[in-house]
Amino acid sequence: MPSPENLILAAQEARRRAYTPYSGYKVGAALQTDTGAIVAGCNVENLSYGATICAERTAVTKMIADGLGQKISAIAVASKDGVTPCGICLQVLSEFVEGPETLVYRVNENGEVQSMPFGNLLPHAFVSDEVRRTES
Ligand code: THU
Repeated sequence: MPSPENLILAAQEARRRAYTPYSGYKVGAALQTDTGAIVAGCNVENLSYGATICAERTAVTKMIADGLGQKISAIAVASKDGVTPCGICLQVLSEFVEGPETLVYRVNENGEVQSMPFGNLLPHAFVSDEVRRTES
C-alpha cells in the first residue's frame, strides 16, 4: 500500500460534500482498490431516516457500479471525531477487503489520523458456506 495521504485527502474532500440536513454529522470515506483507483463517498441522508446511506457504503456501491475495482486494499474515513465505520458498513466492506490486515485510517476534523487493521474492527464477520455463490 502506497502512502495513505491521497486516500485520506479523498475522504476529507468527500466529507465536504456530505448531505446531512438531519444530523449535521458529515462523513467521507475513500477506498483504495485493486485497479489503482481511489473511490470516495459521503453520507446521504433522507427525510425517511432509515433510507440514509453511510459514506462507506456509498463508496462501495460507486466502486462496483462504476467498475472501479473488486478488492479494497485500504480504507479512509473522515469525520468530526475520527469514528470507525458502523456495523452495517463493516459487514458490507468485509465482502471486498483484501483481508483482516487491510488498514482502516480514521481521521478527525483536526487531521489527526489513527489506523487499525480491518480484522480488529470486525473479527467475526457473517460468513457461511451454506449461502451459496452462484457466480464468482
Ligand atoms: N454515518 C456514516 O456515514 N458512516 C458510519 O459509519 C456511521 C454513520 C452517517 C449516517 C448519518 O448520516 C450520520 O452519520 C449520523 O449517524
